[in-house]
Amino acid sequence: MIVRQTYLIKYLIHRNSIQGDSITVITFSHHKGGTGKTTSCLNIAGFLVQAGKKVLVIDCDPQANATVGLGFTPTTPGRNIYDVFLSGFEDFPITSLSEIIQGTPSGIDLAPSSLDLVGADPFLYRMENREAILKNAIETVKNRYDFILVDTPPSLGQLVINGLFAADHVIVTLDSGTFALEGVSTLSTIFGDMKEDLEREIIPDMAVVTRWGEQGNPEKPGIEQPEKKDIFTQLRDLFYKKPEPTPEEIRAREEKETEHERLLSMRAEVERLFRTVYTVPYSPQIYESQKRGLPISQYAPESAAGIVYKNITEEVLRWN
Ligand SMILES: Nc1ncnc2c1ncn2[C@@H]1O[C@H](COP(=O)(O)OP(=O)(O)OP(=O)(O)O)[C@@H](O)[C@H]1O
Ligand SMILES: [Mg+2]
Repeated sequence: MIVRQTYLIKYLIHRNSIQGDSITVITFSHHKGGTGKTTSCLNIAGFLVQAGKKVLVIDCDPQANATVGLGFTPTTPGRNIYDVFLSGFEDFPITSLSEIIQGTPSGIDLAPSSLDLVGADPFLYRMENREAILKNAIETVKNRYDFILVDTPPSLGQLVINGLFAADHVIVTLDSGTFALEGVSTLSTIFGDMKEDLEREIIPDMAVVTRWGEQGNPEKPGIEQPEKKDIFTQLRDLFYKKPEPTPEEIRAREEKETEHERLLSMRAEVERLFRTVYTVPYSPQIYESQKRGLPISQYAPESAAGIVYKNITEEVLRWN
């Protein structure tokens, strides 16, 4: 009996040291819309849960995409992260972060958002220590989680500052579109201002380039999937010369080659700017899994994007 108690005490101490001391807060950031913040947040959260970690996603975006992407329907009268941000300010009731946390089907806990959050910024600007509201709220739940992942909106307001201020690690997401790198200098200005005004230095740990190759295979431009040819087609190919390509076919091929060169030079530039860079391929399963309210770890872990998000998560696990 005594032996059993000793083991129980050891187990409790061990649990406390896992969940109490080593909480890691990761914020996904880019003020530009549609760069893959929410997608990266939810899918890394999914693989963290699969690795046995206790994970909370805090949705700080009024669009509530992370909330919906985890299969939770925002209820209008229900309390959400808006109430936490405004908790106790003027006539607002006190709401703690733990009061709004919901379980979701994937095993990820969620602090949901709603459209209410659109109205938060004017109030936040009137508060003292407004940059630390989220950080202080996280303090109250931190012994329940190994990882807290914060999804931020595509804007430059207080919600983003709060997400960055609370972070132990920052992941910058970049889409692979033509103007992908344009926002990076603005981001470094924001980080510079935070250092100057709030004495908080932000050095992004990782860039994740999303939807890589959406316009075609960036590794092999113009190379089509080999088709299986029947014997008659093979014979015809041997004896008849292929017709010359049409001007449209030539133009399409040239466009593919230009896109290939653009992507390669973008990757080189991103690798120059960030310590660690991952490129997540375009996978239709990403959208399908979001529609079902599940992370890719549960819907299609072996998809091209799933494999990369799993690799990213292996690196993220070392941050804890
Ligand atoms: N690897 C991928 N393959 C396919 N689709 C993707 C991939 N990554 C992201 N998407 C899709 O791209 C769109 C934008 O992604 P996401 O919502 O994650 O961006 P965001 O930065 O969170 O956007 P916002 O700034 O509006 O919050 C979504 O429809 C998402 O399903
Ligand atoms: Mg988003």
